[in-house]
Amino acid sequence: MTTNLQAYRGSLLHFLADPAFSDKSHDWHEDGLLIVADGKVQAAGDYATLHTTLPANTVVHDYSGKLLIPGFIDTHVHYPQSDMIASPAEGLLPWLETYTFPTERQFEDTVHAANVAEFFLDELLRCGTTTAMVYCTVHPQSVDAFFTASEQRGLRMVAGKVMMDRNCPDFLRDTAESGARDTETLIQRWHKRGRALYAITPRFAPTSTERQLQLAGELATAYPDTFIQTHVSENEAECAWVRELFPNSRSYIDVYDSYGMMRPRAMYGHCIWLNERDRQRMAETQSAAAICPTSNLFLGSGLFDFERADDAGVLLSLATDVGGGTSFSMLQTMNEAYKVARLKGSYLPALRMFYLATLGAARSMQLEGTIGNFTAGAEADFIVVDPQATPLLQRRTARRESLEELLFALALLGDDRAIAATYSAGRQVHVRETT
Ligand code: GUN
Ligand code: ZN
Repeated sequence: MTTNLQAYRGSLLHFLADPAFSDKSHDWHEDGLLIVADGKVQAAGDYATLHTTLPANTVVHDYSGKLLIPGFIDTHVHYPQSDMIASPAEGLLPWLETYTFPTERQFEDTVHAANVAEFFLDELLRCGTTTAMVYCTVHPQSVDAFFTASEQRGLRMVAGKVMMDRNCPDFLRDTAESGARDTETLIQRWHKRGRALYAITPRFAPTSTERQLQLAGELATAYPDTFIQTHVSENEAECAWVRELFPNSRSYIDVYDSYGMMRPRAMYGHCIWLNERDRQRMAETQSAAAICPTSNLFLGSGLFDFERADDAGVLLSLATDVGGGTSFSMLQTMNEAYKVARLKGSYLPALRMFYLATLGAARSMQLEGTIGNFTAGAEADFIVVDPQATPLLQRRTARRESLEELLFALALLGDDRAIAATYSAGRQVHVRETT
């Protein structure tokens, strides 16, 4: 069999470690080359050194002046909420009642679900996001629609059926038994089929009975390489509600802990109102936090505490949480993450933010070596980022004096316009239209 070899020239950046804890966190080649063989990274490094290794007839795609970086990973997003992004409400719980539940009801209709899934994936790819951890709705067909669409595009995606059997409208309610049965069927149908991975997805503790959480935990034990995703400690009113519903639990996250849902590949959205013991448990169990700054600011939920999370050694990543989040762009998510950190008295360098949106997320998902950087053998999911995408970016980045300044300008001023092209497993899946 002949190898399909492709090479891409540009300024190349990827991560090897967390910049907050390592001096040798990243690999940067101003004039770099990425070599892709059969959809996987074969090599990444200096153009001068690597191009001599290419067979004479290899086409070199020239992205000089632009950055080649791993595709972004969004670790918490709701595809059914694409159509209700930017819907105003006074906080999380009224927002769920007024907009979210009626919107999710429509996913009973498979045609509607397929249509929104296509739009959602287009939007992710336009923003340079090549992997996401995705909430579907309570309807199993919403999961089939999503994975069918992502499989057709060959994308590495994680998704799951929302489980909720109380405190929600009848039209969105499963039962403990039906939720578990449907989840198991979907795991068997989709988990590790092609690039699809399944996430067991109880929405959040208030909408699940103890029996449902117990069954979710049992599935998490029976299928240890599946993912778990849920919300925790997002909003103060929600936390008070959980205290009422689970008076015997030490804390909100302890509810999940007591049902065996803290383990590697568990992704907890928000994690704002945690205490020290909660953070310790997250670190001990390698459960990960999906930090959702645009959502937290929009819904007025609170400010994530980067310093305390780092002190405890919690696995961190960034996420949009659309439709609570206000942008599909991980660059815009970094923009708001930076400001959240400042308001909490911490400082988040741009280098760290790009790490969190790539290798940090892959590590949080136990997928290092598969996605998140350009290590040899990794899947070639990468993006071409244009520092001259807008007049303002062009002016600002022309004056940059360091890599940090370049990345910072992209994070603060960039969005979907800065993504010139997106590649998944070596195939171009988005190219920005220029006027
Ligand atoms: N908590 C429970 N469900 C949701 C949701 O859909 N979005 C957000 N942001 N928080 C939630
Ligand atoms: Zn969410």
